[in-house]
Formats: sequence, C-alpha cells, structure tokens
Amino acid sequence: MPLQIVRNDITKMRVDAIVNAANRSLLGGGGVDGAIHCAAGPELLEECRGLGGCETGQAKATKGYRLPAKFVIHTVGPIWRGGDHGEPELLAACYRNSLNLARKLRCESVAFPMISTGVYGYPKELALPIATQAITEFLMENEMQVYLVVFGAGALAVSMKLFHDVKQYIDQNYVDAHNDRRREYQREALWHSDEEKALEYDQMLGESIFHDLFDSAPLADAAPAPDSALRPQPLMQTSIQPDWEDLLRQTDEGFSQMLLRKIDEKGMTDAQCYKKANVDRKLFSKIRTNPAYRPGKPTVFAFAVALELSLDETKEMLEKAGFALSRSSKMDIVLEYFIKNGLYNLLEINEVLFQFDLPLLGSVA
Ligand code: APR
Repeated sequence: MPLQIVRNDITKMRVDAIVNAANRSLLGGGGVDGAIHCAAGPELLEECRGLGGCETGQAKATKGYRLPAKFVIHTVGPIWRGGDHGEPELLAACYRNSLNLARKLRCESVAFPMISTGVYGYPKELALPIATQAITEFLMENEMQVYLVVFGAGALAVSMKLFHDVKQYIDQNYVDAHNDRRREYQREALWHSDEEKALEYDQMLGESIFHDLFDSAPLADAAPAPDSALRPQPLMQTSIQPDWEDLLRQTDEGFSQMLLRKIDEKGMTDAQCYKKANVDRKLFSKIRTNPAYRPGKPTVFAFAVALELSLDETKEMLEKAGFALSRSSKMDIVLEYFIKNGLYNLLEINEVLFQFDLPLLGSVA
C-alpha cells in the first residue's frame, strides 16, 4: 500500500527517512522535533547547526544517527494564521519538497508526522487533505512507500458528519455473528411467557430482517444520495435477449480477468488503476500475470473503488476472488456505505476505516 496511515511514534518507524516538523532555526524544539532530537542523540543537533536554518516550506536532510531511520528530513511548516496567508500552499510544499529530497536520497520509504498541526496550530481537518493530496500526486509519478504517522487518539480529524453517518450506517446494518443467537433466545423466552408480545416482536424482527435481506427501502436517514444518483441510469436491458456468449465468458472469468476487463471498459491504464487503488506495482503485476491469483479482500475493495464500480459489480468482483459482502464485517458495511453513495475517494475511505481501527484499502504488502 503506497500510502498508509499509521498510529505510531515516528521515532520508532523503521523507514529510510522520517520527516521532522522543525522550526526555521533547525536547532530543535518541542513536539515531534524534540522527540526526534532526543531519540537521534546530540550528533543530530551538531549536523543541524551546520545547515544554516531552513525556510518555511523547504526541506533539508541529515543523517538519522541513533534513530532506526537512515535520514531525517527537516521541513518547516507554516504557522496557522487563519488560512489566507499562503498556509495551504506552504504546507503542500513541505510534503512535496520532502518527498523530492527523499527521492534524491534514493529512499524507498518515508514517514511523515502531521506537519504544522501541533504547536503551529494548523487545523487537522484542513491539513489532512493537503497532506494526502500532495503525497498522492507524488505517488502517481514515483514508487515509494509513504507513511502518514498520527500520534495519539483522535489525531486524525475525519469530518464529524461523515464519521457520524458511517457510524449510523454500521449500527443499522452490522449483525455480528452471535447477535442472531441473542435474538433467538429473546424470541424463545417471549413465546413461553407472553404470546402477544412475542407476536409483536416477531413482526418487528421480520420487518428488519426483510430490510436486511431485500434492502429495498432506502434507509430513511442514510446520507442524501449524491447528484450522480439523480443522473438518468442506463436503461435495464430486460427486454433485450442477454448475450449468452458474454454471460458465459463472464461466469468463467476469474478475478484478474474481470479486473482487466473493467480497466479497459473504464478507459484507464493499468498504472492509473493500481495507483488510484493504492496498490503497489509488484502486486498488480502478480495479479495481471496469474489468472488464478486470489487477492485479499481490502485489495478487491480498493480496485472496486478505483474503478468506481456499482455495488452489484463490487459483489461480483468479490465473488470472483472468493469473497462475499458480509453483514458481520464492519469493513464491508463501511465500503457498502461509500459505494452505495457513489463516494469513491479512497483516501477518505481509508481515513474513516482508520478511525474505526479497521484494515485500510490497498494491497496488504
Ligand atoms: N510521532 C509522531 N507524531 C508526533 C510525535 C511523535 N513522536 N510527537 C508529536 N507528534 C505530532 C503532533 O501530535 C502533531 O500532530 O506531530 C504533529 C506536529 O506537531 P508539532 O510537533 O507541534 O509540530 P508543528 O505543529 O509543525 O510545530 C512546529 O513545534 O516542536 C516545535 O520546533 C518545533 O517550532 C517547531 C514547532
């Protein structure tokens, strides 16, 4: 997964380079700057003294000394002053210049803190999309493993509305395996004690199971469907005889053939697809060359999102990889929420999955 969001202390990251959210003097400070200097040892400060400071948005590198990382890339984020003093451009420049310097140093892996979101006061919910956008643009042109390290609980500010909507959708749809048994016990007890009530409970239960199984009535308080849902949908071809050839071919095709067919149908290149899916090139070439290859479920979902498949197409792709959409998997329900609502921003999905401590989308390396 070329871009991973992880909860960790950046000084512990075993990567080629870690990025330091420094100040213009480069002579150390608090926060992540202090933690990195403390873990690297005094030689780091010695080397920094010789760098002559660093301008906001720029980046300079030193060795990592006692850190597991080979290099420390020092960058200086903008101080938040309300957002109309060039802060977004300067923050994006921190990520871009640090990545370009890491590439020059032939780094294969880099870890970033959430630059400027501590002492410098940059609101996390504004800084996060700038960070992920700048990193993703770099990854569209370069091969590198990038980690965005969030520190401490709640350190990732997914928009509260989105978080709430997804949580509500999970609560309405998640049926954990033993939940059924509990409901059965309740029903059993009621039938023995109060037939009237038991009948009522059955009706209510039947009603909710009906929704689950047939999913016909849209959830009353699901997030309003996006405009795309209002676009005229392609006419169902019920009146036209299906193309049996095509159908037979599709039933025989495996996951990788379906994936390659969908890439062609969407007019995408392989690289556009696997990068948008946050899947690394090596894994994609495995899938491409081996028709029998079975990827993990997060990878199948990642391609479904990258190809902007409908829920039915996603179910079909899952089936071909040996999976089914499950009501007892919170990750599946989160994906169902995003795909049903036509929300195909993989980074936003990963941020929400991260908040729920669920596996992220992309290749499990
Ligand atoms: N690992 C990962 N992230 C960390 C760690 C750590 N060990 N310690 C702090 N962070 C996170 C903070 O939670 C915050 O989200 O790093 C982010 C950046 O916070 P700061 O370190 O305060 O950096 P910044 O907001 O860019 O302010 C820079 O603070 O420390 C001084 O010398 C530094 O003057 C400079 C200013």
